Amino acid sequence: MIKVQRKVSSARRIKGVISVPGDKSISHRAVMIGALAEGTTEIEGFLPSSDCLHTCQCLRQLGISIESNGQADKLIVKGQGLWGLQEPTGILNAGNSGTTMRLLTGVLAGQAFTSAITGDASLCGRPMERAVVPLRQMGAKITGARLIERPEGIYAPLIITGGNLQPISYRLPVASAQVKSALLFAGLYTPGWTEILEPQVTRNHTELMLKAFGAKIERVGQTVRLKGQATLKAQKVAITGDLSSAAYLLVAGLIIPDSCVVIKNVGINPTRSGIIDILQAMGAKLVITEQEEIAGELRGTIKVESSSLQGISLGGEIIPRLIDELPVLAVAALFASGITEIRDAQELKVKESNRLRAICEGLGRLGGQVEELDDGLRIWGGASLLGAVCRSFGDHRIAMALAIAALGAKGETIIENADVVDVSFPGFWSLLDELRSGK
Ligand code: S3P
Repeated sequence: MIKVQRKVSSARRIKGVISVPGDKSISHRAVMIGALAEGTTEIEGFLPSSDCLHTCQCLRQLGISIESNGQADKLIVKGQGLWGLQEPTGILNAGNSGTTMRLLTGVLAGQAFTSAITGDASLCGRPMERAVVPLRQMGAKITGARLIERPEGIYAPLIITGGNLQPISYRLPVASAQVKSALLFAGLYTPGWTEILEPQVTRNHTELMLKAFGAKIERVGQTVRLKGQATLKAQKVAITGDLSSAAYLLVAGLIIPDSCVVIKNVGINPTRSGIIDILQAMGAKLVITEQEEIAGELRGTIKVESSSLQGISLGGEIIPRLIDELPVLAVAALFASGITEIRDAQELKVKESNRLRAICEGLGRLGGQVEELDDGLRIWGGASLLGAVCRSFGDHRIAMALAIAALGAKGETIIENADVVDVSFPGFWSLLDELRSGK
């Protein structure tokens, strides 16, 4: 693949009424749960990004028909029921997508056949023991298939021989929606109640969608409980726009003078909307209108106007509610007054890149003062940035965060390996151009 550079020059203002592509987390879940349901699931608002297309491809290899009828965001999934997946002939490939790998590992743990799943270099370097350890406790046989074993943990490729699972009660050592979801999927294949205690509440899209498809699932305090072996029934799923994608353009509208951005139909599920709370606490002029709830998922229209932001300290339980937005929050913090401190965010070290390091390097090259902490970042606001050459580290969220910082920098910034944005936000560059030329 040719790695494409992007030049981003400073923006005079950002203006427009737009919508963003479908939510990545919900898109993965919609095709997976549709595949395990009985009947035909129709999905609208699907995100046709490379991460979600890897999920579709894996499911096709497991014998599921997924068709798009010409419109990439509309899918028809022919579900085969809980027990209808077929043994794949080849190795499944999750690409860059941690969600694909961890969630599918949960599904595969329930199957009475052997399968193997791998991913790109970044994904094969990300920790898998957090999902593998409890799935082994449920009875699945899972091994890391690296030729050179790494003593510090379990890494993909994974070889999974499933079947005959038993329910467990499990306390997640790290707050992770991917691991919680993997255990819920595996729990579907057990004869009893699977219980998962979360140290902090993480995104609940799996719970909401399983419930909409007819699973018996409930939350008691910090514990999610699922009764196995229920029949899932196909549904019509309407996916909201992705708040994690919207966040880049919202921050652009806040930090560039004379700007106004309206984004319609964005998911504002409270387990995901930490970025809205923090931006408002920083003084953002941000309002939400036209709120509506469909199948438990809240959506709305978000409007921002250029604002004078103040630095903030954050950590603790808000972190899982905005984990993917921290790179762009760091950009907002550079344009705020005072110091921003982000703590309890050590998970950023094991995302698509080591995001703490990547943010420090990228924003540092633009002239921002950012300190890497053990578990977060300290950012000095009021920076005057100057365009530079920056690396994306092959990480979509780093590339997009740097692009937003570049809008507020003097001169021109070059972002290397910029096409990686397609992992979660196809159309990002053209939408940014549209907003820059907005009247
Ligand atoms: C996701 C959960 C989060 C998030 C990731 C998507 C999901 O990861 O960072 O981008 O779809 O469940 P963790 O489960 O590792 O916290």
